[in-house]
Amino acid sequence: MINFNFYAPTKILFGKDKITELPVELSKWGKRVLLVYGGNSIKVNGIYQIVHKILSDNTELFIELPGVQPNPRISKVREGIKLIRENDLDFILAVGGGSVIDCSKAIAAGVNYDGDPWDIVMYKARTVNPTPIGVVLTFSATGSEMNGGSVITNEELKMKRPFGDEQLKPKFSILDPTYTYTLSKYQTACGIADMFSHLLETYFSAVIGASVQDRIAEGLMKNVIHYAKIVLDEPENYIARANLMWTSSLAINGLTGAGKIGDWATHMIEHEISAINDMAHGAGLALIFPYWMQYVLSDETLWKFVEYANNVWDIQGCDFDTAQQAIKQTREFFNFLGLPSHLKEVGISPDMFDEMAEKAVIFGPIGNIKKLEREDIINILKLAY
Ligand code: NZQ
Ligand code: ZN
Repeated sequence: MINFNFYAPTKILFGKDKITELPVELSKWGKRVLLVYGGNSIKVNGIYQIVHKILSDNTELFIELPGVQPNPRISKVREGIKLIRENDLDFILAVGGGSVIDCSKAIAAGVNYDGDPWDIVMYKARTVNPTPIGVVLTFSATGSEMNGGSVITNEELKMKRPFGDEQLKPKFSILDPTYTYTLSKYQTACGIADMFSHLLETYFSAVIGASVQDRIAEGLMKNVIHYAKIVLDEPENYIARANLMWTSSLAINGLTGAGKIGDWATHMIEHEISAINDMAHGAGLALIFPYWMQYVLSDETLWKFVEYANNVWDIQGCDFDTAQQAIKQTREFFNFLGLPSHLKEVGISPDMFDEMAEKAVIFGPIGNIKKLEREDIINILKLAY
């Protein structure tokens, strides 16, 4: 285990009807609010109406920024920054899933920067004095509700890039599992694949001896597998939705990654896929992860695959066959969720591989349990085709 700082300052308000505590939280942070949300889902399920009433009764002014798309765009970030500046707003309330939260974080980061916010995403400029953010979560997946990360797409450059800053961690996040009842089966499945992948990314690390973190991650993975099977049949099963929601936050808030260096190569490869075809992030991860596993399995990495097989999938043994069985189980789990398993199914063709690989290593080789260069990424994409 390597040295680490663990800092998870986001106040979590978890459970049914926790929205009633929004006025108290708002009173601590701001009176002039930018309300950020996506499309129509929060109007259809009634969350918008509840939040609108609370903001009307408890703020001096609130301005709406609707229309954040999945894979949020830098143009929407620019729009949000303009609204905050023009109206002298002091707080951002993000109501939605990862895309809405990530867009809000990029807005917060860019408000006090004179240049273009894309500079911050590309780490050419730093986040200084960001606007505070609060979250009402409607989608269990990204964990953005409890971390400082954000992933933004530049539609002109066809680039999707992650950036982060601990100042962007939300001040509070309201997690009401009933708010996720209206997610479709496909969206629920994408969220499950995303949270499971976050656990895999920090689990598959070359760093040894972080036993506490790995045992927690294994427990969370088993929990995801268990409740995934329930929630797809029973979308309004509170216990299943609650366990998945809390897992999504814990899977990427630094807990299982503390004292380790996560791999994250699969995420970097996935971002190149959804930057091109705009597909759901979780579906892209489900597609790539088992191929990445196949590619990085070697004499050096076998030990970690054996741990994964024994402790997550209850497969006994310690050889390559054990590892292969765990990879097969992972693919079958994603297939059970109804997610794609070949790039040709999702409109990505081999003539795009070179450019995708080039962009994925723009800051150098990716991955930790095995470092991947441009050629390695092309090989993984070929396997996935
Ligand atoms: O736009 P609306 O109408 O609200 O519909 C949304 C959207 O179409 C819908 N939705 C959300 N809550 C719903 C609902 N529909 C019915 N009922 C509800 N309760 O779901 C669709 C997808 O929403 P989105 O926010 O895009 O999903 P998700 O939470 O999976 O976020 C994905 C984005 O987060 C990034 C991804 O790359 C992607 O851009 N990530 C962010 C991370 C972070 N900040 O830490 C880490 C992740 O690895 C990930 O990369
Ligand atoms: Zn993810």
